[in-house]
Order: sequence, then structure tokens, then C-alpha cells
Amino acid sequence: MKILFFSAKPYERPFFDKYNEPYGFELVYFETHLGPHIVNAVEDAIAVCVFVNDKVNAAVISVLAEKGVKIIALRCAGYNNVDLDAAKAQGIHVCRVPEYSPEAVAEHTTAMLLTLIRKTHKAYNRVREQNFALNGMLGFNLYGKTVGIIGTGKIGKAFCRIMLGFGCNVIAYDLLPDLQMQALGIQYMSFEEVLKKADIVSLHCPLTQENHYMINKAALAMMKKGVAVINTSRGGLINTVDVIQALKSKQVAYLGIDVYEQEEQLFFKDLSGSIIEDDTIQRLMSFPNVLVTAHQAYFTEEALSQIAQVTLGSIGQLANENQCADASVMLV
Ligand code: NAI
Repeated sequence: MKILFFSAKPYERPFFDKYNEPYGFELVYFETHLGPHIVNAVEDAIAVCVFVNDKVNAAVISVLAEKGVKIIALRCAGYNNVDLDAAKAQGIHVCRVPEYSPEAVAEHTTAMLLTLIRKTHKAYNRVREQNFALNGMLGFNLYGKTVGIIGTGKIGKAFCRIMLGFGCNVIAYDLLPDLQMQALGIQYMSFEEVLKKADIVSLHCPLTQENHYMINKAALAMMKKGVAVINTSRGGLINTVDVIQALKSKQVAYLGIDVYEQEEQLFFKDLSGSIIEDDTIQRLMSFPNVLVTAHQAYFTEEALSQIAQVTLGSIGQLANENQCADASVMLV
């Protein structure tokens, strides 16, 4: 049985090859994204395995169904790039990896926050130039600050625990407040209240039609002047043009993003020899108080092992039994 991987990177293959041994699937790796331009090349595959920037819309799914594909396996948690209704209508299963080391993303969020507020990204370059002066390096303590967390699912919870460990006052907004987190001392409040009270706002909710651009001009205006905003969730949660204005007016003093709304044109590629036409990301990267990482929050050995094991396990079960023992991996 053949599985076609799209957006496959060399660093993923050893993990999938290793954990494929008990299954014996034929694994075929394509570096290109899955989308209308390539879907006709799909042949003889029981499953396609896709990542965050593959475009799995209704048109693509209709061709996959014609080609006999039975499973769309997302090797990630977010699934905003897959038309689930279309897959359901075509009788194609969609599975994902609902959890792969939430700590990986929570720890990267912390790394981004600390880098920005203690300016270690600048210190790294500065001391290599033998400049040991501290001018412009003044930071602030996390201890005692109010951290506002939007979305307290698996990653948000892990980040809450880390911030509690730093001695922060943690407040949160979630559609479904979590009793365990409340017992740990997290105070839930409305989205607007969190924005008004937080010194640091960190986004950990999925991107949906309802919350697209939840951080827009109005939301940014509600925040404290000098706020730090971190987004390791999905680019579409933030209106980038509005956040650039907020950086220029100093309303936002620090911005850390591991995700970007137009990231499929850029992220996971080496464009060091290219001219980047996206002026918005170029403007963002020109700010000294903006840190951009290229969707690497999940990128740890632990997470890649888990992604490979869960993805192959789900495809194995769906191929043989038409269902998965762990219902949480199934979207359709
Ligand atoms: P999860 O499903 O465990 O938690 C999501 C939480 O957000 C839930 O508690 C849910 O009630 C809440 N939520 C949903 N809509 C909301 C809204 N409009 N406002 C506030 N809260 C809302 O998901 P998990 O595993 O914690 O992941 C969160 C997101 O992180 C994923 O959807 C994905 O977009 C992103 N992610 C990013 C990665 C990276 O490498 N940068 C890796 C993995 C996930």
C-alpha cells in the first residue's frame, strides 16, 4: 500500500522510514505542496499525507476521490487547510496528529518571548562584533507580569504552567474554560478583558472562520501600550497590516511570530538567494523588536517521532479496519 507525502522535507523522512518498519507501507515523498497543480499526479495511493500549507480544498479532494485515495492524513494538529465537508461527502477519511509534544510549542513560545524581552538575538550578534556595551539592551522581568493566554487547550495549558513557574499572573480566554487550570490559579475572563489586562498576549487557539483576524486594529487598541504579542498558533489570527501599524505607534513593543498568514509562499524553503516580493513580511522583519521563526515551534525530536508514529498508526488502522481506536485522531 502506497502513501504519498506532500511538502516532505529531508529531516522528516528518517522518522517516517524508521516507524514504517512494522507496517511496510511504500512511502513516496514529494517536496511540492499538494494542490490543484499536482493532484492529477496522484496514482495508486491509499493515502496522501499532508502538512500545514498543503491546499486540500474541495476541487483537490474531488480528484483524490477519483484516484481512489481513501485517507487524507495530516501530519500536524491544525486542519484549517482541509475542506472536511468535501472529504466527508467523498467518503474520504481525514485524520491528524492532535497532540505531538505540546511542550515543544509551549517551550518555543517561551523562547521567543524571552529572546524578545531580554534581547538575546541582539546580544548574540553584538558580542561577536566585540561590542560589550549594554546600551539598548534593557529588558524586563517576567516575574509578576500578567500573561494573557488565548486558548487553553493542550499547548495553551503547557504554556500556562511554564508562565506560572516564572511567577506570572496568568489570565486566559477560552470558549471552554478548563477546571484544572482554574484550580492552578488561572483566571478566565472575556477576550476583551484579557487584552486590556495583559502585559503579554500569547495565542494558542485554532484558526477558524469566526476568529480570523481576532487580533485586528480594534483588538490591538484595547491592549496595554507596550504589550508583547506572541503567535505560535496560526498566521490568520493576526491582521498583519494592523499589527505593523501598532508596532509603528509603539502600541505593540514586542512581536514574536512563528506563523504568518502568507507563510506558504515562504516558510520551509531556503529563499536566501531570492528576491522576496512580500513587502509585508519584509516590513515586519525590519523591526528590531520583531522576531520571526518559520513555523518551527513544533520542531523537536520528540515531536517528529510522535508525528510519524501516530500518522502511520492511524493510516494502518484505517486501511485495515476502516476506523481508528483513538477517536481523537479522526476528523472525518
Ligand atoms: P487544542 O485543540 O488542544 O486547544 C485549542 C483550544 O482553543 C481549545 O481549548 C479551544 O476551546 C480553544 N479555542 C477554540 N477557538 C477559540 C477561540 N475562538 N477563542 C479562544 N479559544 C478558542 O489545540 P492545541 O494542540 O493546543 O493547538 C493549538 C493551535 O496551535 C493549533 O490549532 C495549531 O493552529 C497551533 N499549532 C502550532 C504549531 C507550531 O509549530 N507553530 C504546532 C502545533 C499546533
